[in-house]
Amino acid sequence: MKYSSPRGTLDILPGEIKLWRFLEDTARSVFESYNYAEIRTPIFEQTELFTRGIGQDTDIVGKEMYTFLDKGDRSLTLRPEETAPVVRACIENNLFGQNELLKLYYIGPMFRYERPQAGRQRQFSQAGVEVFGSSDPIADVEIIELAVAYFNEIGLKNLEVDINSVGCGICRPAYKKELKQYFKESEAELCENCSKRIETNPLRILDCKEPGCQPLIKKAPATIDHICDDCRSHYEKVKEYLKRYGIKFKENKRLVRGLDYYTKTTFEVISSSLGAQSAVCGGGRYDNLVEELGGRSVPAVGFAIGLDRLLMVIKEQKVDIPAGERLKAYIVTLGEEAKKKGFEVLRSLRNMGIRSDMDFQGKSLNSQLKVANKLNVQFAIIIGEDELKNGIVVIRSMDEKEQENVAFSEILRKIR
Ligand code: HAM
Repeated sequence: MKYSSPRGTLDILPGEIKLWRFLEDTARSVFESYNYAEIRTPIFEQTELFTRGIGQDTDIVGKEMYTFLDKGDRSLTLRPEETAPVVRACIENNLFGQNELLKLYYIGPMFRYERPQAGRQRQFSQAGVEVFGSSDPIADVEIIELAVAYFNEIGLKNLEVDINSVGCGICRPAYKKELKQYFKESEAELCENCSKRIETNPLRILDCKEPGCQPLIKKAPATIDHICDDCRSHYEKVKEYLKRYGIKFKENKRLVRGLDYYTKTTFEVISSSLGAQSAVCGGGRYDNLVEELGGRSVPAVGFAIGLDRLLMVIKEQKVDIPAGERLKAYIVTLGEEAKKKGFEVLRSLRNMGIRSDMDFQGKSLNSQLKVANKLNVQFAIIIGEDELKNGIVVIRSMDEKEQENVAFSEILRKIR
């Protein structure tokens, strides 16, 4: 029997870890420099958190959730995203208690039962941030600016920031009505799913990926042309600030997000290096979600970056990754006694925090040196029978190809 990883999942092997660490470490340092604090929530949650939070009629809730009953017959779901869990955690732990600005970030795996393709997996990783407690457009701008700052720090090129406004509870009903009317007139051209959505949630039709629905979607009335004065003024201020701070953006009135909780600003960061799945980051404002999930009214805005897609882009653009620390010493021994002494030296090196290793397979001297070479080690410390007798080792600098005899007592000082 041969086992393989489940469809839509990937093993991240040691050779790729450096890239992952680079993306994650940079996210931590950039987010923390903006005063965001890390939060970690469970991988699974009560299913209802997502049906309520993300929206019953969305693709995520309708088709893509990993939902199961546990042994106590509770319906649980592997998190498809982390905004709703973060809101749940903040309500539950009273983090919204004081009326202060709360800035949080998270990094971790998400799960969606999607059709796998390049840049689209069933388990993928996101790095995201959420700001709670401000309805000021400057908070939207900080978020967008933070995403751009992160991508700049990574060294990414050719990114585009798309923005839009999807309105709020005041302007949406009238827009919804108009949209309903519009789709009703050409219902026959819509897929079965969308046809059902006309009554339940016509806005979701705008997010449909069926090729047959696209012509109608393209010509549909856009939210941005139907937003109320408050949403309009918010949107104008976001644009004004973005211009003022030199953050390039494109208005995209066709930008619809796949989650129902958004109000006012929505945005995506798009990379031309990716194919069909071109969004490396998506987010926006969600002023009603906290209340929807049982908290008090707290305005909020945030985004999540897709790290798997980002990894594809940095490989494609051959972004320079800082080299990791080299292995400093490799102990090469000949004979049983030398091996014992070698392990003793190895322990002392490791005690001092020096990255070092040795062979445990009884390889020949030559083979051990070959391994040292392959590991790109800085120094080989060679201990043979003669050396052992004389209380010395040979330290060979692998870069300079020079070597010298060193007394046991001097090894640590020399290597350091
Ligand atoms: P989202 O647009 O669904 O938003 O996901 C954000 C990013 O996650 C996408 O732009 C993409 O890069 C990545 N992503 C999504 N699905 C997949 C997949 N199947 N495979 C690989 N990468 C994927 C959210 O999740 C919101 N929670 C973002 C947010 C935070 N809004 C406000 N705060």
